[in-house]
Amino acid sequence: MKMKAGFSLLKPVVLIFIFNLCFYGSYQLTELQVCELCNGTILNGTAVGQFCSVSAGRIDGRCCLKNDNTSDPEHIIGLDLSNCSLTHVEDLQGASTSLMIDLSLNPIVNISDTAFQGFIELNYMILPQYIVCPGGNASWEKVELKDGNRICKGQKDMCNQTGQLSINCPENSLCAPYGPSFFECSCADGYRGYKCLREGEFPALQVFGPLGASTVVISFLLWVTQRRKAKPL
Ligand SMILES: *[C@@H]1O[C@H](CO)[C@@H](O)[C@H](O)[C@H]1NC(C)=O
Ligand SMILES: *[C@@H]1O[C@H](CO)[C@@H](O)[C@H](O)[C@H]1NC(C)=O
Ligand SMILES: *[C@@H]1O[C@H](CO)[C@@H](O)[C@H](O)[C@H]1NC(C)=O
Ligand SMILES: *[C@@H]1O[C@H](CO)[C@@H](O)[C@H](O)[C@H]1NC(C)=O
Ligand SMILES: *[C@@H]1O[C@H](CO)[C@@H](O)[C@H](O)[C@H]1NC(C)=O
Repeated sequence: MKMKAGFSLLKPVVLIFIFNLCFYGSYQLTELQVCELCNGTILNGTAVGQFCSVSAGRIDGRCCLKNDNTSDPEHIIGLDLSNCSLTHVEDLQGASTSLMIDLSLNPIVNISDTAFQGFIELNYMILPQYIVCPGGNASWEKVELKDGNRICKGQKDMCNQTGQLSINCPENSLCAPYGPSFFECSCADGYRGYKCLREGEFPALQVFGPLGASTVVISFLLWVTQRRKAKPL
């Protein structure tokens, strides 16, 4: 009896995880594939080129790579996909450690809502002028129009904004940034389940963003059904 209850509480978390995996994870590019999305290497005079040289990074294709200390593997700190004939930007997850991304001079028609989910470090983006910054102006400290480009500077911390978001992390959970317009609620130690209302060992993890509506809707539906099951007690 006890085990069954434990399993049913865990189910929504697993389902949401699978849902996210199917919808957002089906065609993830690895780090290497992102660097080779188009020909050429980062040029010296470009924004990412200069950033890479200042950061003492190593250029590989369209990426600037660096390791923080010698024991860590190298990771992408800059990505320059300028002039790459990109029309749709859906998955750059391999570059989620980037601090700077340049997507200028591309005929972009569509950037996926979740394209930059998890890009916690991202602090400087160059986009074609007509493309809005990921998450909108509200997700950035400063948005500039310059030389036909839109520059998004300084990612805002969604956990420390007053009046910006109506959804907040529930009680007994901790909020952490999770890319432009996204934040992540994780249950505090000793709590679990959706909304972290139950005491137990398995921490549940939820990701919200004003644009990540599908996840929120699914989570809500699951929460409602779970709540009904729990009521008769
Ligand atoms: C890039 O510029 C730096 C100095 O600005 C120079 O030392 C380096 O050789 C240049 N690299 C290339 C590939 O031109
Ligand atoms: C963009 O790339 C094309 C070739 O792929 C090149 O001819 C053109 O000069 C590049 N434009 C800029 C601004 O770098
Ligand atoms: C952008 O992509 C979304 C989903 O990927 C799609 O629903 C929408 O129609 C696309 N918009 C354009 C202008 O292609
Ligand atoms: C976002 O910022 C840009 C540049 O400052 C401005 O041109 C644009 O109107 C702003 N968009 C909104 C929706 O506020
Ligand atoms: C939260 O925001 C306030 C004012 O906007 C700032 O003074 C404070 O340092 C921020 N706290 C954190 C943890 O970022």
